[in-house]
Amino acid sequence: MVVLPFHRLLPPLLLLLFILIPSLLLISPSKPSSFFSDVSLPSPPAAPLVVPPPSSPPTSSPVPPISPPVLPFTPPHLSSPAVEQSNGVERSEERCDLYDGNWERDEEKRYPLYDPGSCPYVDEAFACVENGRPDKEYLKWKWVPHGCSLPRFNSTDFLERIRGKRMMLVGDSMNRNQFESMLCVLREGLPDKTKMYETRGYKITKGRGYFIFRFVDYNCTVEFVRSHFLVKEGKRANAQGNSSPTLLIDRVDKSSGRWKKADILIFNTGHWWTHGKTAKGKNYYQEGDVVYPKFDAMQAFRIAMRTWGRWIDENMNPSKKLIFYRGYSTAHFRGGDWDSGGSCKGEKDPILKGPLIETYHPKMKIIEEVIQEMKFPVILLNVTKLTNFRKDGHPSVYGKMTQNQEPKVSSRKQDCSHWCLPGVPDAWNELIYASFTLNQKKQSSCHHPQQRSWFASIFGETMKTKEVS
Ligand SMILES: *[C@@H]1O[C@H](CO)[C@@H](O)[C@H](O)[C@H]1NC(C)=O
Ligand SMILES: *[C@@H]1O[C@H](CO)[C@@H](O)[C@H](O)[C@H]1NC(C)=O
Ligand SMILES: *[C@@H]1O[C@H](CO)[C@@H](O)[C@H](O)[C@H]1NC(C)=O
Repeated sequence: MVVLPFHRLLPPLLLLLFILIPSLLLISPSKPSSFFSDVSLPSPPAAPLVVPPPSSPPTSSPVPPISPPVLPFTPPHLSSPAVEQSNGVERSEERCDLYDGNWERDEEKRYPLYDPGSCPYVDEAFACVENGRPDKEYLKWKWVPHGCSLPRFNSTDFLERIRGKRMMLVGDSMNRNQFESMLCVLREGLPDKTKMYETRGYKITKGRGYFIFRFVDYNCTVEFVRSHFLVKEGKRANAQGNSSPTLLIDRVDKSSGRWKKADILIFNTGHWWTHGKTAKGKNYYQEGDVVYPKFDAMQAFRIAMRTWGRWIDENMNPSKKLIFYRGYSTAHFRGGDWDSGGSCKGEKDPILKGPLIETYHPKMKIIEEVIQEMKFPVILLNVTKLTNFRKDGHPSVYGKMTQNQEPKVSSRKQDCSHWCLPGVPDAWNELIYASFTLNQKKQSSCHHPQQRSWFASIFGETMKTKEVS
């Protein structure tokens, strides 16, 4: 090998610099992209995380390490190749995965987004502070994606974007958790709080399966439809003449008639698939008229999700509806599971490092597959990772009033699946808001005029024209 002396390398190096510098200037951002102009300031680099090993190793189902990184998911109709190829600025915006980041201390005192006890739509099970939870630090974290920051949540703007529309959350109690959060964060935008109400006067309880909240001044509704599995629950007579539950994985849930009425939908399912009879799969899963004596729960989940996906493709018009699927939300039981004495009481801080952060629920891979096979461009709210961190966010024993005495931990099941409100689901709703603002340009550059006008209100064009006129 020939080693050239430095003085002979210098001229070519200088030449290279002369070529490189002007071309770098050419591709430097000339104006901020629309997304970043909405955003406060780029986030400072994440503070170094020096954290002792997690005090609660995951004791629930161990999850295999994640697969190699996948490109951030962009629903086909929301990405335009022209935008992706145009220049370096767009590409970096493209690469900002809202779901990959860290929780950071909120130094600006913007969180929680509403005060504990201030929102009448948080039901008892999630009202941790009112139920006696003494520590408050868990209320003061903000989600910060790597490489960009979330747009500052603006309730008025959110409501303006959904003016005249019906937004519906469909799923299990985890989605009711998110629904209550949604009502509370939007309520903050109302100067007159009496201008929202449940249309039939219902109070939110877990016993009821359908709620419709109307925001009078915005002519819009935010609704919740309970559907534990998204596919149909049934019954069969067993040998003893009793009836036992079945799950019809090839038929969509009977609440689907309601789904059709919404303009914006946020689906979820997941936790019920780990419960006793669902997990065991004995005489439970049904296709057509056949109830399988034994069937694998993951396989059943795959079939059920495909049934859901097919129904969406057949019944929903992508130019008229916006559909999100909210990913699996992590539970943090230690020393047992939800029904066998598992606990998360006393967790005051998030996990900031360790293997649990990098786990990805196997059900999520199925969801990703199903969404990719679908014609309808469902947006995945990929919140699994951000929930992995938050072992401090669950109600634990504060899902019920503690009557001024220490609840007896051993005598009561702890809730380490749902989330205190205010809390983690507020961030999921911030991410929905971020999807509205983030996608506005991509939307407007790739849609037919009639599609554009429908989406314009959500993704921001009406806002712009209003400013101009
Ligand atoms: C929130 O949005 C409303 C309506 O678009 C706007 O008038 C207001 O200035 C925004 N507030 C902030 C703090 O950005
Ligand atoms: C309210 O929204 C509905 C669509 O959901 C629309 O048909 C109706 O005209 C709107 N009413 C007003 C007063 O804007
Ligand atoms: C969702 O987030 C996980 C990290 O938690 C990542 O491994 C996965 O690829 C993401 N999925 C999509 C579709 O972006």
